[in-house]
Amino acid sequence: MSSFRKTSRSRFWRGALVLLGVIFAIDIIRLSWNGSHRHPNTSIGIPTPTPSIYIASIFWNSAAILHSNWNNAILDLAEKLGADNIYISIYESGSWDESKQILRQLESVLINRGIRHRIILDEITHQDDIARPPAAEGWVKTPRGMTELRRIPYLSKLRNKTLEPLAELAANGTTFDKVLFLNDVAFTIQDVWNLLATNNGDFAAACSLDFSKPPKFYDTFALRDIEGHERLMMTYPYFRSRESRSAMVSHRPVPVQSCWNGMVAFDSSPFYRASPLRFRGISDSLAIHHLEGSECCLIHADNPQSPLKGVWLNPNVRVGYDPNAYAVVHTMEPWPSLYDRLIGLWENRIRRWVTTVWFKEWVVRNRIKKWAKEDRNRRESGPHCLINEMQVLVYNGWAHV
Ligand SMILES: *[C@@H]1O[C@H](CO)[C@@H](O)[C@H](O)[C@H]1NC(C)=O
Ligand SMILES: *[C@@H]1O[C@H](CO)[C@@H](O)[C@H](O)[C@H]1NC(C)=O
Repeated sequence: MSSFRKTSRSRFWRGALVLLGVIFAIDIIRLSWNGSHRHPNTSIGIPTPTPSIYIASIFWNSAAILHSNWNNAILDLAEKLGADNIYISIYESGSWDESKQILRQLESVLINRGIRHRIILDEITHQDDIARPPAAEGWVKTPRGMTELRRIPYLSKLRNKTLEPLAELAANGTTFDKVLFLNDVAFTIQDVWNLLATNNGDFAAACSLDFSKPPKFYDTFALRDIEGHERLMMTYPYFRSRESRSAMVSHRPVPVQSCWNGMVAFDSSPFYRASPLRFRGISDSLAIHHLEGSECCLIHADNPQSPLKGVWLNPNVRVGYDPNAYAVVHTMEPWPSLYDRLIGLWENRIRRWVTTVWFKEWVVRNRIKKWAKEDRNRRESGPHCLINEMQVLVYNGWAHV
């Protein structure tokens, strides 16, 4: 009896070990097959016909990256696209580093080369903005007993300003194929070509992946997998939903509900509609329930093209918030290494087995429900963007309250 139990127990463990070995083998085949046969084409040339691109950026204390990478990359891009195919719209405000000077240098080169642009260098600081008497919109009563300026409506306003020339030019008969939003990141023109080639150029929006402290990606606030969940982990393969994860593993563009992550190209047509696509925050009455959502997520939720053509994160386009971060994520192709991807796959599996987002998402859903009940006309189209946070501007940046 006891020897029977012993053999059946050892049979169980042997079976489990064999099964584990088989799963490991399948993982390695999956990862290395996709790695060698689908690895990203790093020599994609400029798309033909040459697309016209409207570039929109906001900056705040970004002197270092402007100086080391951004300005040069933009001038490269303008040279390759041709002056007729690019417009550069920049809004900077309240920096206390050399951002203004470095952007002035860029502007003088743009003028010399006849490249159309609008660069606004605003002297208004965060301190000026938060010291104003609260306006009717964009301010919120915070738990610390003050009425404070919400960060997201503030950022939406700045981003909307970068789109003003787009509307003016359209009124003058000039339109662009793509709107490209660029953060304060290191990127190359190759990254831009790769981004534009995402899904053969057929997308509502296509994003890069951004890194500040690799291997962790950076912008968690805007990234939602195809089922609307936040990232499962900060490192490869990032996602909880099967569809998003499996695209990641095969180096294919990843279908997502929302992404931003350093650099994002939009099909321009929604920005030209009669009621044009613009940035916004959730309403103040909802924010009072201690919720916030990124303007960079809400815009995908508002974009009528998102469900038709899809929002895609291209894992082969990786940008960095400093030259070192950029270099680290370009040490090999594909990145990260096979070993790191294998470990990531298992970490992801285990996290999926032992964690759930149900409670976290339930809290948010409940607050939205409560808010909607207070007034029949209330609706929020991007509930998956919302998280249990309140964000306000402070004199030297922003804060959670
Ligand atoms: C965004 O831009 C639109 C159009 O310019 C404007 O009506 C809207 O108020 C702006 N939203 C914010 C939050 O500034
Ligand atoms: C549009 O045309 C008007 C009139 O020619 C001009 O003043 C304005 O600067 C143009 N707008 C842009 C964004 O080029």
